[in-house]
Amino acid sequence: MSSPLRRPLLAGNWKMNLTLAQSVDLARAVKDAAASASGEVAVCVPFTAIAAVAEVLRGSPVKLGAQDLYWEASGAYTGEISAGMLTDAGCQMAILGHSERRKLFSESDEWVNKKLGAALKAGLTPIVCIGETLEERETQKTWRVLETQIAGGLKGFAPADLSKLVVAYEPVWAIGTGKTATPAQAQEAHLFVRAQLAKLHGEGFASSVRVLYGGSVTAENVDSLMAQADVDGALVGGASLKKDAFLRIMGFRELKAA
Ligand code: 13P
Repeated sequence: MSSPLRRPLLAGNWKMNLTLAQSVDLARAVKDAAASASGEVAVCVPFTAIAAVAEVLRGSPVKLGAQDLYWEASGAYTGEISAGMLTDAGCQMAILGHSERRKLFSESDEWVNKKLGAALKAGLTPIVCIGETLEERETQKTWRVLETQIAGGLKGFAPADLSKLVVAYEPVWAIGTGKTATPAQAQEAHLFVRAQLAKLHGEGFASSVRVLYGGSVTAENVDSLMAQADVDGALVGGASLKKDAFLRIMGFRELKAA
Protein backbone atom coordinates (compact mmCIF):
# COMPACT_ATOMS: atom_id res chain seq x y z
CA MET A 1 0.00 0.00 0.00
CA SER A 2 1.31 3.40 -0.89
CA SER A 3 2.29 6.00 1.68
CA PRO A 4 -0.51 7.82 3.53
CA LEU A 5 1.15 11.00 2.21
CA ARG A 6 -0.19 10.11 -1.20
CA ARG A 7 -3.91 9.65 -1.78
CA PRO A 8 -4.51 6.92 -4.38
CA LEU A 9 -5.71 8.20 -7.75
CA LEU A 10 -7.76 6.04 -10.09
CA ALA A 11 -7.91 7.78 -13.45
CA GLY A 12 -9.63 6.63 -16.61
CA ASN A 13 -8.17 7.61 -19.96
CA TRP A 14 -11.02 7.23 -22.43
CA LYS A 15 -8.68 7.96 -25.37
CA MET A 16 -10.54 8.51 -28.68
CA ASN A 17 -13.71 6.66 -27.72
CA LEU A 18 -17.41 7.10 -26.90
CA THR A 19 -20.18 9.27 -28.27
CA LEU A 20 -21.48 12.18 -26.21
CA ALA A 21 -24.42 10.10 -24.98
CA GLN A 22 -22.11 7.24 -23.99
CA SER A 23 -19.74 9.68 -22.27
CA VAL A 24 -22.56 11.16 -20.20
CA ASP A 25 -23.82 7.68 -19.24
CA LEU A 26 -20.41 6.47 -18.13
CA ALA A 27 -19.65 9.71 -16.26
CA ARG A 28 -22.97 9.34 -14.38
CA ALA A 29 -22.08 5.81 -13.32
CA VAL A 30 -18.63 6.94 -12.13
CA LYS A 31 -20.15 9.85 -10.23
CA ASP A 32 -22.72 7.60 -8.55
CA ALA A 33 -20.01 5.21 -7.37
CA ALA A 34 -17.53 7.88 -6.27
CA ALA A 35 -18.60 7.92 -2.63
CA SER A 36 -17.44 4.34 -2.14
CA ALA A 37 -14.20 4.66 -4.13
CA SER A 38 -10.89 3.71 -2.49
CA GLY A 39 -9.21 6.95 -3.57
CA GLU A 40 -9.56 10.03 -5.71
CA VAL A 41 -11.21 9.33 -9.07
CA ALA A 42 -10.74 11.08 -12.41
CA VAL A 43 -11.94 10.63 -15.98
CA CYS A 44 -9.86 12.01 -18.85
CA VAL A 45 -12.24 12.41 -21.73
CA PRO A 46 -12.06 13.52 -25.39
CA PHE A 47 -12.14 17.30 -25.88
CA THR A 48 -15.62 17.14 -27.40
CA ALA A 49 -17.06 15.52 -24.27
CA ILE A 50 -15.48 17.85 -21.69
CA ALA A 51 -18.33 20.33 -21.34
CA ALA A 52 -21.05 17.67 -21.18
CA VAL A 53 -19.14 15.52 -18.67
CA ALA A 54 -18.33 18.61 -16.58
CA GLU A 55 -22.06 19.20 -16.30
CA VAL A 56 -22.64 15.61 -15.14
CA LEU A 57 -19.80 15.76 -12.60
CA ARG A 58 -20.76 19.14 -11.18
CA GLY A 59 -20.75 18.96 -7.37
CA SER A 60 -19.13 15.52 -7.29
CA PRO A 61 -15.60 14.72 -6.11
CA VAL A 62 -14.76 13.08 -9.45
CA LYS A 63 -12.08 15.09 -11.26
CA LEU A 64 -12.31 15.84 -14.96
CA GLY A 65 -9.25 15.68 -17.15
CA ALA A 66 -8.25 16.25 -20.77
CA GLN A 67 -5.84 14.01 -22.66
CA ASP A 68 -3.55 16.71 -24.04
CA LEU A 69 -3.21 20.47 -24.43
CA TYR A 70 -1.16 23.02 -26.35
CA TRP A 71 1.19 25.35 -24.48
CA GLU A 72 0.24 28.67 -26.09
CA ALA A 73 -2.60 30.59 -24.45
CA SER A 74 -4.46 31.50 -27.64
CA GLY A 75 -3.89 32.43 -31.26
CA ALA A 76 -3.42 30.96 -34.70
CA TYR A 77 -2.84 27.31 -33.76
CA THR A 78 -5.47 25.54 -35.82
CA GLY A 79 -6.74 22.40 -34.18
CA GLU A 80 -5.10 22.98 -30.81
CA ILE A 81 -6.64 23.50 -27.35
CA SER A 82 -5.03 25.63 -24.62
CA ALA A 83 -4.82 24.96 -20.90
CA GLY A 84 -7.02 27.98 -20.24
CA MET A 85 -9.67 26.61 -22.60
CA LEU A 86 -9.62 23.37 -20.62
CA THR A 87 -10.14 25.02 -17.23
CA ASP A 88 -12.84 27.22 -18.78
CA ALA A 89 -14.63 24.09 -19.98
CA GLY A 90 -14.42 22.48 -16.52
CA CYS A 91 -11.18 20.45 -16.45
CA GLN A 92 -9.00 20.12 -13.37
CA MET A 93 -6.43 17.73 -14.83
CA ALA A 94 -4.61 16.96 -18.07
CA ILE A 95 -2.64 13.96 -19.27
CA LEU A 96 0.64 15.09 -20.86
CA GLY A 97 3.14 13.15 -22.96
CA HIS A 98 1.13 9.96 -23.30
CA SER A 99 3.13 7.36 -25.21
CA GLU A 100 0.54 7.36 -28.00
CA ARG A 101 1.25 11.05 -28.52
CA ARG A 102 4.99 10.53 -28.27
CA LYS A 103 4.86 7.73 -30.86
CA LEU A 104 2.08 8.79 -33.26
CA PHE A 105 2.59 12.56 -33.08
CA SER A 106 6.33 12.71 -32.35
CA GLU A 107 5.97 14.54 -29.04
CA SER A 108 9.34 15.17 -27.44
CA ASP A 109 10.30 15.71 -23.81
CA GLU A 110 10.79 19.37 -24.73
CA TRP A 111 7.15 19.60 -25.80
CA VAL A 112 6.00 17.78 -22.69
CA ASN A 113 8.00 20.31 -20.67
CA LYS A 114 6.27 23.25 -22.39
CA LYS A 115 2.86 21.65 -21.94
CA LEU A 116 3.64 21.08 -18.27
CA GLY A 117 4.41 24.78 -17.86
CA ALA A 118 1.09 25.75 -19.44
CA ALA A 119 -0.85 23.21 -17.35
CA LEU A 120 0.69 24.43 -14.09
CA LYS A 121 0.12 28.08 -14.99
CA ALA A 122 -3.56 27.33 -15.58
CA GLY A 123 -3.87 25.46 -12.28
CA LEU A 124 -4.37 22.05 -13.87
CA THR A 125 -3.10 18.89 -12.20
CA PRO A 126 -0.70 17.41 -14.76
CA ILE A 127 -0.40 13.66 -15.26
CA VAL A 128 2.98 13.33 -16.98
CA CYS A 129 3.35 9.96 -18.72
CA ILE A 130 6.64 8.14 -19.13
CA GLY A 131 7.56 4.61 -20.10
CA GLU A 132 9.83 2.42 -22.15
CA THR A 133 9.08 0.40 -25.30
CA LEU A 134 9.55 -3.36 -25.45
CA GLU A 135 12.73 -2.93 -27.46
CA GLU A 136 14.11 -0.52 -24.90
CA ARG A 137 13.29 -2.95 -22.08
CA GLU A 138 14.83 -5.87 -23.92
CA THR A 139 18.01 -3.93 -24.61
CA GLN A 140 18.37 -2.80 -20.98
CA LYS A 141 17.55 0.84 -21.74
CA THR A 142 14.53 1.15 -19.40
CA TRP A 143 16.26 3.15 -16.69
CA ARG A 144 17.98 5.48 -19.13
CA VAL A 145 14.67 6.17 -20.92
CA LEU A 146 12.81 6.89 -17.69
CA GLU A 147 15.62 9.11 -16.40
CA THR A 148 15.68 11.11 -19.65
CA GLN A 149 11.90 11.50 -19.81
CA ILE A 150 11.69 12.66 -16.19
CA ALA A 151 14.63 15.07 -16.43
CA GLY A 152 13.44 16.49 -19.78
CA GLY A 153 9.78 16.72 -18.88
CA LEU A 154 10.30 18.36 -15.48
CA LYS A 155 13.23 20.60 -16.43
CA GLY A 156 13.27 24.14 -15.07
CA PHE A 157 10.52 23.84 -12.45
CA ALA A 158 10.99 24.35 -8.74
CA PRO A 159 9.49 21.77 -6.36
CA ALA A 160 6.89 24.33 -5.26
CA ASP A 161 5.69 24.62 -8.89
CA LEU A 162 5.29 20.86 -9.01
CA SER A 163 3.17 20.40 -5.90
CA LYS A 164 0.29 18.98 -7.97
CA LEU A 165 2.46 16.83 -10.21
CA VAL A 166 1.32 13.28 -10.92
CA VAL A 167 3.60 10.93 -12.88
CA ALA A 168 2.23 7.91 -14.74
CA TYR A 169 4.61 5.05 -15.45
CA GLU A 170 3.15 3.37 -18.51
CA PRO A 171 5.42 0.76 -20.07
CA VAL A 172 4.55 0.95 -23.78
CA TRP A 173 4.61 -2.84 -24.11
CA ALA A 174 1.81 -3.11 -21.56
CA ILE A 175 -0.55 -0.54 -23.12
CA GLY A 176 -3.57 -2.12 -24.79
CA THR A 177 -1.76 -5.44 -25.04
CA GLY A 178 -3.28 -7.33 -22.12
CA LYS A 179 0.31 -7.84 -20.98
CA THR A 180 0.39 -6.10 -17.61
CA ALA A 181 3.66 -5.43 -15.81
CA THR A 182 3.88 -7.78 -12.85
CA PRO A 183 3.42 -6.05 -9.50
CA ALA A 184 7.15 -6.56 -8.89
CA GLN A 185 8.08 -4.97 -12.24
CA ALA A 186 5.77 -2.03 -11.53
CA GLN A 187 7.20 -1.57 -8.03
CA GLU A 188 10.78 -1.72 -9.33
CA ALA A 189 10.08 0.96 -11.95
CA HIS A 190 8.12 3.16 -9.54
CA LEU A 191 10.92 3.01 -7.02
CA PHE A 192 13.33 4.08 -9.77
CA VAL A 193 11.01 6.94 -10.78
CA ARG A 194 10.84 8.11 -7.18
CA ALA A 195 14.62 7.99 -6.93
CA GLN A 196 14.83 10.24 -10.01
CA LEU A 197 12.35 12.66 -8.44
CA ALA A 198 14.51 12.67 -5.29
CA LYS A 199 17.60 13.34 -7.39
CA LEU A 200 15.87 16.38 -8.90
CA HIS A 201 14.29 17.91 -5.81
CA GLY A 202 15.02 15.81 -2.73
CA GLU A 203 13.38 13.04 -0.75
CA GLY A 204 10.56 15.16 0.65
CA PHE A 205 9.43 16.10 -2.85
CA ALA A 206 9.79 12.55 -4.16
CA SER A 207 7.72 11.09 -1.35
CA SER A 208 4.89 13.55 -2.04
CA VAL A 209 4.46 12.86 -5.78
CA ARG A 210 1.87 10.31 -6.82
CA VAL A 211 3.20 7.78 -9.31
CA LEU A 212 0.45 5.92 -11.17
CA TYR A 213 0.83 2.68 -13.05
CA GLY A 214 -0.76 2.32 -16.51
CA GLY A 215 -0.83 -0.56 -18.97
CA SER A 216 -3.56 -3.20 -19.12
CA VAL A 217 -4.88 -2.46 -15.63
CA THR A 218 -8.02 -4.54 -15.06
CA ALA A 219 -10.55 -5.28 -12.34
CA GLU A 220 -8.62 -8.51 -11.79
CA ASN A 221 -5.09 -7.13 -11.38
CA VAL A 222 -5.70 -3.75 -9.74
CA ASP A 223 -5.54 -5.01 -6.15
CA SER A 224 -2.12 -6.62 -6.53
CA LEU A 225 -0.72 -3.58 -8.35
CA MET A 226 -2.10 -1.20 -5.71
CA ALA A 227 -0.56 -3.37 -2.98
CA GLN A 228 2.91 -2.19 -4.06
CA ALA A 229 4.48 0.44 -1.83
CA ASP A 230 5.25 2.91 -4.61
CA VAL A 231 2.16 2.39 -6.78
CA ASP A 232 -0.10 5.30 -5.89
CA GLY A 233 -2.84 4.74 -8.41
CA ALA A 234 -3.72 3.62 -11.90
CA LEU A 235 -4.15 5.26 -15.28
CA VAL A 236 -6.62 2.98 -17.00
CA GLY A 237 -7.36 2.81 -20.72
CA GLY A 238 -9.53 -0.02 -22.04
CA ALA A 239 -11.01 -1.05 -18.71
CA SER A 240 -12.08 2.54 -17.96
CA LEU A 241 -14.61 2.31 -20.82
CA LYS A 242 -16.35 -0.65 -19.18
CA LYS A 243 -18.56 0.52 -16.35
CA ASP A 244 -18.35 -2.57 -14.16
CA ALA A 245 -14.60 -2.91 -14.61
CA PHE A 246 -13.85 0.73 -13.82
CA LEU A 247 -16.15 0.77 -10.80
CA ARG A 248 -14.29 -2.25 -9.44
CA ILE A 249 -10.96 -0.52 -10.11
CA MET A 250 -12.23 2.59 -8.28
CA GLY A 251 -13.04 0.35 -5.33
CA PHE A 252 -9.73 -1.54 -5.31
CA ARG A 253 -9.13 -3.50 -2.15
CA GLU A 254 -6.15 -3.25 0.08
CA LEU A 255 -4.43 -6.61 0.18
CA LYS A 256 -3.30 -7.61 3.62
CA ALA A 257 0.36 -8.47 3.96
CA ALA A 258 0.77 -12.27 4.02
P1 13P B 1 -4.79 0.22 -21.40
O1 13P B 1 -5.33 0.22 -20.00
O2 13P B 1 -5.86 0.06 -22.45
O3 13P B 1 -3.65 -0.72 -21.57
O4 13P B 1 -4.21 1.69 -21.66
C1 13P B 1 -3.36 2.24 -20.73
C2 13P B 1 -3.15 3.66 -21.05
O5 13P B 1 -2.57 4.01 -22.07
C3 13P B 1 -3.70 4.65 -20.11
O6 13P B 1 -3.24 5.93 -20.42
